[in-house]
Amino acid sequence: MTNSPTHRKVAILGASRGLGRAIAERLQQTESVESLLCVSRKPASGETTLSKSEFFEFDLSKPDLSDLIQKLNAFAPDCIFYCAGGGPFSNYQQAKWSAHQWALRVSFLAAAEICHWFLGQQGASKARQMVMIGSSVAESQGDAQAASYAAAKHALLGLYQSIQKEKPKLDLRLFSPGYMNTDMIPAGSWPRQQSQSLWEPDHVASMLCRWCSDDAQFGGHMSLSLFADTPRKAH
Ligand SMILES: NC(=O)c1ccc[n+]([C@@H]2O[C@H](COP(=O)([O-])OP(=O)(O)OC[C@H]3O[C@@H](n4cnc5c(N)ncnc54)[C@H](OP(=O)(O)O)[C@@H]3O)[C@@H](O)[C@H]2O)c1
Repeated sequence: MTNSPTHRKVAILGASRGLGRAIAERLQQTESVESLLCVSRKPASGETTLSKSEFFEFDLSKPDLSDLIQKLNAFAPDCIFYCAGGGPFSNYQQAKWSAHQWALRVSFLAAAEICHWFLGQQGASKARQMVMIGSSVAESQGDAQAASYAAAKHALLGLYQSIQKEKPKLDLRLFSPGYMNTDMIPAGSWPRQQSQSLWEPDHVASMLCRWCSDDAQFGGHMSLSLFADTPRKAH
C-alpha cells in the first residue's frame, strides 16, 4: 500500500453519529490531521472531547447550501467525507412527499452540490480527496420500503461513475457500506433480526480511513458485503 500525504484539514458532513462520528474519532487521533470541521444538525454528545474539531450546525436538507459552502470556503478542507443520508422507511405511496424530498436532498442532492463545488476548488486550493458514502444495500438494486433512499443512492453511484469517466484530478471516491450497527437501523428491523452480524461503525471507519490513505486506490469504489460475516463483494 502506498500511503499518500495524509490530510491536514478534513470536513465531515454528517459527523454527529454513526459512521461519520467514527471517522471523526479516528481522524482526531491521526497525527497528520490538523483540524476537523464536523457538520450536522446537532453536535455529537461529547463533541468537546474532539480537541481538533470545530462544529458547524447545518441542515443538509435545506435547498440553499450557500452558508455551508461559505463555511467550507473559509475552512478550505483538503478532504471531505459526505456521510449524511437517510429517508422514510415506508411504502412509497404512504410516506409524505416531503419525506421523500428530504431523502433525495440529504442522501444525494447536497452531496452532488458539495462535490460540484469541491471539483471547482482544484488548483485554487488544496482540494485533494472527496469520499461519498453510498450503500451496497441500496445503490444497485431496489430496496422495498426505502424507494427514495435507494433512488438517491443509485443517483450517487451514477454521479460518481460519470465523473470518473471525465478523469477528474480530484481523488473522488465512493465507499459503500453494508448494514451497520447505527441509529439508521432501528431496533426490531429486518437486518437486526438476522443471524448475521451488522458491521460496527468503528471497524468500517478504520477500513475506510486505511483505504483512503492508499494512493493506489485513487478514484476507487469500495463496496462491503451486506453483513460483516458474509463474503466480501468485489469492487
Ligand atoms: N447504517 C447502515 O446500515 C447503512 C448501510 C449502508 C449505507 N449507509 C450509509 O452510510 C452513511 C452513514 O450512515 P449511518 O448509519 O452512520 O447514519 P446515522 O447513524 O443515521 O448518522 C447520520 C449522520 O448524518 C447526520 N445527518 C442526518 N441528516 C442530516 C441533515 N439533514 N443535515 C445534516 N446532517 C444530517 C446526522 O446528524 P444529525 O442528526 O445530528 O443531523 C448523523 O451525524 C449514510 O450515507 C448511509 O446512507 C448506512
